[in-house]
Amino acid sequence: MKIFYDVLVVGTGVAGLNTALNLEDSHSILVVSKDYAWECNTFYAQGGIAVPISDEDVFVHIKDTLEAGDGHCNPDAVEILCSEARQSIQGLIDKGFQFDCDEKGKLLYTREAAHSCSRILHAGGDATGRFLHLFMMKKLKSPILYNTQVTDLLISDGKCFGVRVSHGGSIFNIYAKNVVIASGGVGSLYEYHTNARTISADMHGICLSHSIPLIDMEMMQFHPTAFVQSSAVRKQLLSESLRGEGAKVVDKDGRRFLFDYDSRGELSARNIVSRAIFDYKQRTGKEVYLDLSGFESSHFRERFPSIYYNMKVMGYDLPNQKIPVSPAFHYAMGGIKTDLNCAVEGVENLFAVGEAANTGVHGANRLASNSLLEGLVFSDKVAKVLKKSQKYSHSDMLFCEKEDILMIEGDKLLKNELRSIMWKYAGIIRNGKELEKALIRVEDMLRLPIGKLLRLRLLTSREIIKSALNRKVSLGAHYIRGENG
Ligand code: SIN
Repeated sequence: MKIFYDVLVVGTGVAGLNTALNLEDSHSILVVSKDYAWECNTFYAQGGIAVPISDEDVFVHIKDTLEAGDGHCNPDAVEILCSEARQSIQGLIDKGFQFDCDEKGKLLYTREAAHSCSRILHAGGDATGRFLHLFMMKKLKSPILYNTQVTDLLISDGKCFGVRVSHGGSIFNIYAKNVVIASGGVGSLYEYHTNARTISADMHGICLSHSIPLIDMEMMQFHPTAFVQSSAVRKQLLSESLRGEGAKVVDKDGRRFLFDYDSRGELSARNIVSRAIFDYKQRTGKEVYLDLSGFESSHFRERFPSIYYNMKVMGYDLPNQKIPVSPAFHYAMGGIKTDLNCAVEGVENLFAVGEAANTGVHGANRLASNSLLEGLVFSDKVAKVLKKSQKYSHSDMLFCEKEDILMIEGDKLLKNELRSIMWKYAGIIRNGKELEKALIRVEDMLRLPIGKLLRLRLLTSREIIKSALNRKVSLGAHYIRGENG
């Protein structure tokens, strides 16, 4: 049996679903989901979606994004992001999505670090991603193939013809005129992260195995405030908007030490706050807390219901109790290299969008709440291109349906070792010697008999480490310290 579609979308986050929604009236679409559709980073996004609050604010939003990106952004991509943001958001509202509003129906905007003003829209208080995901899933008419692991891209002569998948115990090919990778970032490579459990860099590894370039892979973002003292794989995020609305970062004596690092304190850019917390803990051995005592209880429960309930389950009574916090891996700025229409360089009929991709929009450090926005704006763009593209043609070539062994005994142990290596040596504060050590061990692991899925993780990890080694001077989220740094 030959399965074919006009467009195949890998991933069910905002970027993938919005691509499909934009195209499904004109094209046959299949969305491939590794797990449940909600196991994606969009679903767990709390803070919101950044959007210029007026035409005049477009320029300021651009400036804030470029500044947070530490001079490493592609200014053309940033221009697209900010100038098309209002249109994409209005499109969402016109389709019926409800952002949080005041009693008079006026949109409520919150503030997050490194934004010059309050320009973050939110929904369900702190459940923006969940609400957006549910909204898009309800609208989607295209089929989703669940529990489906993409094991390879079908590429020949610089052209993509579809994907190979593992589903229900079988390996088979799905052909498509165009493939859109919207599979998210690399969270599961790190010991502590805030990502959905499905986000494990397989598509990045597959790209590397086809010599498709990844770019800026040293640029890994760590969120400053996660609750990591739980056995959950995905650590509980404590949204930046908490600090935007007055939460303080303190040590056990109540000292707001962030001002030792940057005069903006709690509202410094994300990389600065993460590094400061990490460094302060290491240097002083003191625990660091998020102090929410400035919030009135009923307001807090209404504004941050998910955080309130999730932390209650962990035994915390918010906002009365302080929460011990640590940075955790949160977002990959680096990704599959694309042009401004999300076309993957060097391979026809292949696109990447959202966190999986790198258009250069986030530079060396993503501005808070620009990621859902990127997912929306750039998937609108990719859909525009694909609308004009050809449909699937039966004359296209066929590929064999064989695949390497995906997992073998022993992979799990190595996967955990890899997470620990990445956290310790390719994490918030890096140095040349430790990165070299990490590279040697990852190369060793790649020579072991291992399953394909672990190999893909290792390939992506190696790329992160090598990129970190290649950038000798600190920039944005990439921070080098030490004698060899
Ligand atoms: C948060 O709510 O702090 C996360 C927002 C983001 O990652 O942009």
